[in-house]
Amino acid sequence: MTNTTAPKTARLTIGDTEIDLPLMHGTEGEVAIDIRNLRAKTGAVTFDPGLGNTGSCESKITFLDGEKGILRYAGYPIEQLAQQSSFVEVMWLLLHQELPSKGQLEQFTHDVTYHTMLHEDLKRLFSSLPKAGHPMAVCAAAVGALSTYYQKVGPSTPEQQWSDAIRLLAKMPTIAAYSYKHSIGQPFMYPRNDIPYAANILHMMFGTPCEKYEPNPVVARALDLLLILHADHEQNCSTSTVRTVGSSGANLFASVSAGISALWGPLHGGANEAVIDMLMAIRDGERTAREFMELAKKKDSGVRLMGFGHRVYKNYDPRALILKQACYDVLGQLGKKDPLLDIALELEQIALNDAYFIDRKLYPNVDFYSGIIYKALGIPTDMFTVFFAIGRMPGWIAQWLEYQRDPAAKITRPRQIYQGSNTREYTPVGAR
Ligand code: ACO
Repeated sequence: MTNTTAPKTARLTIGDTEIDLPLMHGTEGEVAIDIRNLRAKTGAVTFDPGLGNTGSCESKITFLDGEKGILRYAGYPIEQLAQQSSFVEVMWLLLHQELPSKGQLEQFTHDVTYHTMLHEDLKRLFSSLPKAGHPMAVCAAAVGALSTYYQKVGPSTPEQQWSDAIRLLAKMPTIAAYSYKHSIGQPFMYPRNDIPYAANILHMMFGTPCEKYEPNPVVARALDLLLILHADHEQNCSTSTVRTVGSSGANLFASVSAGISALWGPLHGGANEAVIDMLMAIRDGERTAREFMELAKKKDSGVRLMGFGHRVYKNYDPRALILKQACYDVLGQLGKKDPLLDIALELEQIALNDAYFIDRKLYPNVDFYSGIIYKALGIPTDMFTVFFAIGRMPGWIAQWLEYQRDPAAKITRPRQIYQGSNTREYTPVGAR
């Protein structure tokens, strides 16, 4: 709702120059200063490393309030979607910002189910890469390579963009599973189009041609929940990367391949893998939880409490709250116990009562508990971030499409504050 009494401009004074900059108001009450004409009118630019104070676009896809710990996809609270929806339905929701009708959902489910196969030639890409290569690198390569199979000449049409979106959503699980099968030297399993999305991922990862494999419905449902929770998170590092690459006119596959690379980093999606490494190091007696926490508070130690802290959440990440409960549910349903959960709970308790973490508003993020569930589901550690990528796929695509359709969108090209040498004369190498 637009607030008609809200101020419309912000006044900025630089020396003798005074300008009024228009204010923008988001539907959830956010206020932004529109600085599009700032440089033209004053010659100055803004400085915001990490872009923590910069809105890079207007979006209708995801809302999050980091202070209150709120996350909604197109207005629907993440808690309701986690409980009642499915990952495929959430895909549609993000892409259209509306829930699908029954007929739309059936058609869409059919579409993302019947484009799951990869071109047979693309399989050779996997075999050409080292078995020990990280699956995120393999997935980035394979997704980028899809553009060679679906190449277009000239600017793409909305119809082409939609069919690329369907292909990517359908083929990402196959790519992910093949990256795993290649790493362990097992034959690739063709997708099964008669079972649901998450169950099919399990089939392609854990099935073999030698034995009948029926995905465990508890595992499949837990996986579906994880995918829902990871599906979008507005302008995070990888999503901004996808939009930035797309802003140059690059195709969807190339843009998303870059997003996968951005997600891989340990400060972003790679944290889920790092959390398990951290918990296992404590379990194996390298140091106690308390010793680890002391180290995490020391800047020069290079150690951080992985899975804690967030650029936007200054409160409990609502996804972490859901996943913490899901840890108990999944372990209980599978009849498993994991000492890593006890260690995670201990670390969390120490952090929530420690001035260092309280003062900096550092709380568990989505990665803190997700690894424990992936582990319980039998997902190998180096595949955790790949599952994050499968989950984030609809978000990346929705954001990429929104950018392509935004009449105000421009190629992303920030400015800098140059701090290097002033002009000087070139000296030939012999005279230096
Ligand atoms: N452990 C210890 N100290 C931390 C942590 C942490 N996990 N996170 C932040 N801090 C400290 C910083 O050292 C800094 O302290 P200072 O004010 O004394 O200098 C302060 O808290 C603010 O941290 P920044 O790094 O400035 O915060 P920023 O918003 O840039 O970074 C980030 C957020 C990258 C997520 C950070 O909290 C972090 O590294 N967390 C661990 C990695 C992680 O879990 N990443 C996943 C994030 S969720 C996602 O991407 C899916």
